Amino acid sequence: MILGIGIDIIEVARIASSYEKFGERFVNRILYADEIAYCLSHKNPAPFLAVRFSAKEAISKAFGTGICAQLGWQDMEIRRKESGEPFVVLHGKGKKLFQSRRAKRLLVSLSHTANYAAATAVLER
Ligand SMILES: CC(C)(COP(=O)(O)OP(=O)(O)OC[C@H]1O[C@@H](n2cnc3c(N)ncnc32)[C@H](O)[C@@H]1OP(=O)(O)O)[C@@H](O)C(=O)NCCC(=O)NCCS
Repeated sequence: MILGIGIDIIEVARIASSYEKFGERFVNRILYADEIAYCLSHKNPAPFLAVRFSAKEAISKAFGTGICAQLGWQDMEIRRKESGEPFVVLHGKGKKLFQSRRAKRLLVSLSHTANYAAATAVLER
């Protein structure tokens, strides 16, 4: 049973500009160390950073909370399987929210071009 779906699209330039302006302080607020390391392993990290930002917003919509006191950036982590398929690891309040909804699965899908990054999320019981 589907409990919620979420979608998000973001201009890569917006994230690139925040990264240029605030650097590590910005990415550390949004992303986990492994997420950052993966993004920075690319010559142009901006689309990879942007899509992870987008994925977290999409997940927050699937929960119906938005990014808020109940679900912060650091309560969600996007990881990759060997194949490249992304998956979500919830931490702290994210884990609690997931349990409180009696959810069983949280799926994400990511896409990016040079200009836009988009993500969808599905929360299932
Ligand atoms: C919910 C949230 C993710 C929406 O994202 P957004 O970038 O503001 O807006 P988007 O264009 O992607 O999405 C807008 C749509 O989200 C949907 N939405 C709004 N609140 C929602 C919620 N609680 N649950 C699910 N969907 C929601 C609505 O359908 C809305 O469309 P509408 O305004 O036409 O009704 C956003 O409110 C949020 O929590 N953002 C945190 C972002 C932040 O802190 N940024 C600071 C920069 S680090």
